[in-house]
Amino acid sequence: MSKKIPVLLKPLVIAGAFLLMGGAALSAQKAAEPSKETPPPYERAEALATVMNPHEQINDEGEVLWGTCVTCHKNVPDVQKEKSIKDVQLHFEDDPNQICRRCHTVKSHPGSEGISATMSGYVAPDHLVVPPKNIMLSMKLSLKELPMILPLDPKSGKIICSTCHNPHERGLLAGRADWGGDYNMRLRSAGLDICQYCHRK
Ligand code: HEC
Ligand code: HEC
Ligand code: HEC
Ligand code: HEC
Repeated sequence: MSKKIPVLLKPLVIAGAFLLMGGAALSAQKAAEPSKETPPPYERAEALATVMNPHEQINDEGEVLWGTCVTCHKNVPDVQKEKSIKDVQLHFEDDPNQICRRCHTVKSHPGSEGISATMSGYVAPDHLVVPPKNIMLSMKLSLKELPMILPLDPKSGKIICSTCHNPHERGLLAGRADWGGDYNMRLRSAGLDICQYCHRK
């Protein structure tokens, strides 16, 4: 190989690659400069910094920002009447995950936490599938025990991004659909173990 990278520079080169993956325009000059800060593992915030946050749906005065709905919905839903994923009209062609992938370029997860794919060759399980019987049963039990929802794609029956993540701000929707809004990573776990919703021990 002609382009050998000195060992000490390697972490910087890798960090630079992550920044580029995040869509940040970074000059080669900058990447070569030594940085005093530890680079974050994933440049999510940087990539999304230029995008309006559509999950901010209520302002500081407590007013609903109805304009944000149409980022994902074809029209402003009637929160009194539209009570499930089957009632709303969302912006996608075939796959509901398209709505989220427009802004979030996530890898297969969960199941890959703390494992470096390059080191182990481990491939995270594809969660965007039709849940088999045993998992469906766990989901039903969880829905009995907890006041939340686990929406699936009404057409294919598959798990989608919003099965686990609540795209709405807390306080917007009443009842079960509110659970997990604004929780860490917007998870519908709201502090509980979300894996256990589907993988019971
Ligand atoms: C980031 C994308 C996104 C934004 C922005 C968004 N929604 Fe949704 N909404 C969804 C998705 C995906 C579903 C279907 C999954 C689900 O039920 O949560 C949904 C479902 C709903 C439902 C069905 C009820 C239910 O129990 O799930 C209502 C009502 C709704 N949205 C209202 C709104 C309103 C009102 C706004 C604007 C203030 C809004 N949404 C903004 C993505 C979004
Ligand atoms: C128009 C762009 C856009 C769309 C569409 C969108 N998001 Fe987001 N999302 C954002 C932004 C911006 C943030 C805030 C990022 C930050 O502050 O780090 C965010 C934050 C999140 C987070 C929290 C990340 C964290 O680290 O806390 C999750 C989870 C999430 N979105 C899931 C979804 C899901 C699920 C959908 C589809 C239903 C969706 N998003 C659609 C722009 C979008
Ligand atoms: C089976 C549940 C599940 C599904 C389905 C799922 N996620 Fe996640 N997601 C998680 C969990 C748990 C975390 C927190 C830690 C982790 O696994 O990375 C997370 C973290 C995130 C984060 C924040 C961390 C990061 O990498 O920026 C974003 C954004 C996100 N998910 C978006 C999505 C999108 C978009 C989809 C659909 C393509 C999706 N998720 C599908 C469970 C799920
Ligand atoms: C909404 C339900 C749901 C949630 C929540 C969920 N999973 Fe899964 N998980 C599945 C489905 C469905 C499969 C595919 C199983 C199959 O095809 O037999 C799967 C498969 C897996 C696998 C592959 C091995 C296996 O058991 O088949 C791992 C590992 C895994 N999940 C880890 C996790 C972790 C870790 C979490 C929490 C961060 C989590 N899952 C949350 C539904 C879920």
